[in-house]
Amino acid sequence: MAGDSPDQEVVVRMILYGVIIVAFVLTVAIMPTVHLGGYTEPMNSHSIEYESAYTQCVELVRRENCAPILVRLAWHDSGNYDINSHTGGATGSIRFDNELAHGGNAGLKVALELLEPIMKEHPRISRADIIQMASAAAIQASGGPKIPMKYGRIDATSPSEVPEEGRLPTAGAPFHQATGPHPMEAASDQSPAAHLRAVFYRMEMPGSDGASSPGRPAAGDAGL
Ligand code: HEM
Repeated sequence: MAGDSPDQEVVVRMILYGVIIVAFVLTVAIMPTVHLGGYTEPMNSHSIEYESAYTQCVELVRRENCAPILVRLAWHDSGNYDINSHTGGATGSIRFDNELAHGGNAGLKVALELLEPIMKEHPRISRADIIQMASAAAIQASGGPKIPMKYGRIDATSPSEVPEEGRLPTAGAPFHQATGPHPMEAASDQSPAAHLRAVFYRMEMPGSDGASSPGRPAAGDAGL
């Protein structure tokens, strides 16, 4: 700087570099709140925040004995994924009234209400992640394995992102096709097996028996 001695200039430069480094570190620290458009693992998905939310989910399951409904919530949020249009899936869209009103989702409002305090307390984690996390926590809290999870799902932001009703599997006849732009249309093959194939293939789960976890989760991975 004009008029500054060389020593002063070095000090000013060091302060400037310091400010730049601190700004960079802070930016990286808040990255997970800015979902970057991919389903890759956020940089600190094993951070205290995710661990805290997971622990609270386990405590919730133990307190409320609510494992089944949390697993079902996660499955229904994810199970409307369509590989062709890349719509639906684990986006947290099940929190919108128009999706909750789908026949297959009856009763799942209760599960969302149970998770609401955990979502509120962890606003930097997407609702979609907390829904899937709660399912994994429910399985572990029920004596199952600790499921390795990937986080970084992006929340649907408006009810207009809710897929049309009819993508989840039908529990009884008549079996519609559950795929394509008009999933409630009668299928040409109305057998339960054809219906299940249509549903789970649409979720990119060929040969699936439905026991694993569908729904646009992480890059190259059809699991939750
Ligand atoms: C062919 C596919 C499926 C069909 C037709 C189906 C249908 C149903 C139906 C009709 C219920 C009873 C809902 C009620 O309480 O009124 C139910 C419950 C349940 N389903 Fe499925 N389901 C399917 C696949 C799955 C999958 C893949 C999962 C897990 C990833 C799952 C998890 C559950 C759970 C945990 C419950 C119990 C919920 C509770 O007690 O609150 N289901 N399912």
